[in-house]
Amino acid sequence: MDEYLASNRRVWDAWTRIHLDSAFYDVDSFRDGERPVRIRDYEQEEVGDVTGKTLLHLQCHFGLDTLSWARLGATVTGADFSQEGIAAARSLAEEVAIPATFVCADLYDLPAVLDRAEGFDIVYTSAGVLGWLPDIEGWAHVVEHFMKPGGLFYIAEGHPVAMAFENEGVEPGELRLQYPYWTHREPISLEVHGSYADRQAPTEGLIEHGWDHGLGEIVTALAQTGLRIDFLHEFPFSIWNLDFTVEGPDGRFRLPGDMDGRLPLSFSLKATKPLAS
Ligand SMILES: C[S@@+](CC[C@H](N)C(=O)[O-])C[C@H]1O[C@@H](n2cnc3c(N)ncnc32)[C@H](O)[C@@H]1O
Repeated sequence: MDEYLASNRRVWDAWTRIHLDSAFYDVDSFRDGERPVRIRDYEQEEVGDVTGKTLLHLQCHFGLDTLSWARLGATVTGADFSQEGIAAARSLAEEVAIPATFVCADLYDLPAVLDRAEGFDIVYTSAGVLGWLPDIEGWAHVVEHFMKPGGLFYIAEGHPVAMAFENEGVEPGELRLQYPYWTHREPISLEVHGSYADRQAPTEGLIEHGWDHGLGEIVTALAQTGLRIDFLHEFPFSIWNLDFTVEGPDGRFRLPGDMDGRLPLSFSLKATKPLAS
């Protein structure tokens, strides 16, 4: 397992360097305030007002979304296992003068590394996170561990149904069943060709290892920690490009023509940690 994680970490260190200069992330517009907040509107609505709340962002990459939550009023901590990602997040926070804490650790080690006995008001994670994690129950325990009693957890993520189809090198509407829907023990290992933010970027020699998790497995893992599931919303759009979709004027990606709306492509879930009785 350590070798899989080490290999994935090399991928994310390389992708961070690529992403910092990419049009996809357009860090300049975040830096100069032209586009100061990157959290999607529906996420802001579903999470609610974060003013004065403490927020832990799991798998925060180089902190754009974390710092966006800070601009919306939260006191933020971001965590990620990529040293390059965390170094970039810290320097971006400094450049834009936003107070933030960034912690470099593997997700499963985070409870041992980040000492936060009182927990956070909000634990947040989004956009391409679960497929890097081998153990969905272990993930759910980390989520629950960092929540305050009465606190909330929110995830906005690609839908496991959408993740089962080949998403590169296919035509819009071409649904080619390629990956397992449910959890598998051994990872699916693929050579990396560029990144989702820049398909032409040089990434020779990098291998990514991924794991799939069905929606029922994700929800059940959270419920079994004692969290109360407040909602599970399934959306007919993806927030990132899948080659079998087409981009709409709203920047979201949908199935083309009359296929639109017939399958879920992303989901969001909110859960609450009950107050101790
Ligand atoms: C797709 S990114 C999250 C994207 C982020 N929402 C954004 O758009 O910037 C997934 C993140 O998970 C992190 N990651 C992958 N495996 C991890 C692990 N085992 N522990 C901690 N972080 C991990 C990667 O370093 C990467 O930053």
